[in-house]
Amino acid sequence: MSELPEAPFKNPRADHGFKGRTCSIESVGSYVPEKVLTNADLEKIVDTTDEWITSRTGIKERRIAADDEATSDLGAKASLMAMERAGISPDEIDLVICATITPDMPFPSTACLIQEKIGAHGAAAFDLEAACSGFIYGIEIAQQFIMSRTYNCVLVVGAEKLSSIIDWKDRNTCVLFGDGAGAVIMRNRDGAHGLLTAKMGADGRKANILSMPGGGSLNPASTDSINSRLHYLRMDGKEVYKNAVTAMCRSAKEVLKRCELSAEDIKLVIPHQANKRIIDAVGDRLGAKPEQVYMNLQKYGNTSAASVAIALDEAVSEGHIQRGDLILIMVFGAGLTWGAAVIEW
Ligand code: ACO
Repeated sequence: MSELPEAPFKNPRADHGFKGRTCSIESVGSYVPEKVLTNADLEKIVDTTDEWITSRTGIKERRIAADDEATSDLGAKASLMAMERAGISPDEIDLVICATITPDMPFPSTACLIQEKIGAHGAAAFDLEAACSGFIYGIEIAQQFIMSRTYNCVLVVGAEKLSSIIDWKDRNTCVLFGDGAGAVIMRNRDGAHGLLTAKMGADGRKANILSMPGGGSLNPASTDSINSRLHYLRMDGKEVYKNAVTAMCRSAKEVLKRCELSAEDIKLVIPHQANKRIIDAVGDRLGAKPEQVYMNLQKYGNTSAASVAIALDEAVSEGHIQRGDLILIMVFGAGLTWGAAVIEW
């Protein structure tokens, strides 16, 4: 059993007689495709304006993967960066978890394709589908495997090629999303606090407000399903907005309470990068100062399961977070799903 060092916060896992091993997030990496699609470019595709997109969302541009670049390619590049930074060789990885709503194909899993591309041939691999909430679901699952001594080293990847499921004729949605990937290496480390606590939530009663109805067992691909545009993302933006603010605030308050922390103890809040107005509203309700809240959605739009991982990587690279700092991450997505987590970086 690992001994946890004294800390100026309560570790909720220690609260229940800590019997598991401790685990740290060793490194983070990310990758975004080269092609930039600006709001001005979108003005030529749909009836929209830079002014509308900027004022309603904060997004200025997003990245679009090449035709021959799949989600696993983006995920593999982010993973290799995280592995290099952690000094991990492919054969040390025990498990690859890939969070995505845009797998390369229904099966095999994108995690298996990433495993092959990074050469982690000894690792187990599976995909997890919690939409934009996938990163928090993924790191909590990884932590459980490490604490329970099942695995020593887990790669968690959030990767999306959302441009492949966007209806480029629908101005309500096509302006919001982009492609990219982020990855973390999580490993057993004595004395690490790492992921202190995570809250995950879901409400299937609201499944219809954000979905892609075609291509599964309910509406398999057919001429009809294609003509009805069922293979594109559909969203009731206003409903998503309301639910996002409420669910992220509620789960963030819960994880802070579990650790006996308040917003002022947090070095950086990293919310899901979907909409500046959602982020401002959540930061406000939590009592966080604007400079405590990280935002990079102006460059990438909403990259779903990759969003928080890319933001974490940039926040670390830009020096906003040092080892030992406390960070609060929050996510929200289709399902509906949501979550929040406190991490000692
Ligand atoms: N350009 C110009 N006008 C537009 C555009 C556009 N791109 N899109 C919509 N409009 C129009 C609408 O048609 C509407 O016109 P109308 O009044 O004539 O009908 C008008 O703008 C206002 O639309 P609203 O829906 O009221 O705009 P709102 O202020 O709610 O903003 C938005 C819309 C940005 C989608 C907002 O609701 C939002 O951000 N929702 C959350 C979305 C989100 O975060 N989704 C991701 C979830 S994560 C996941 O799992 C994928």
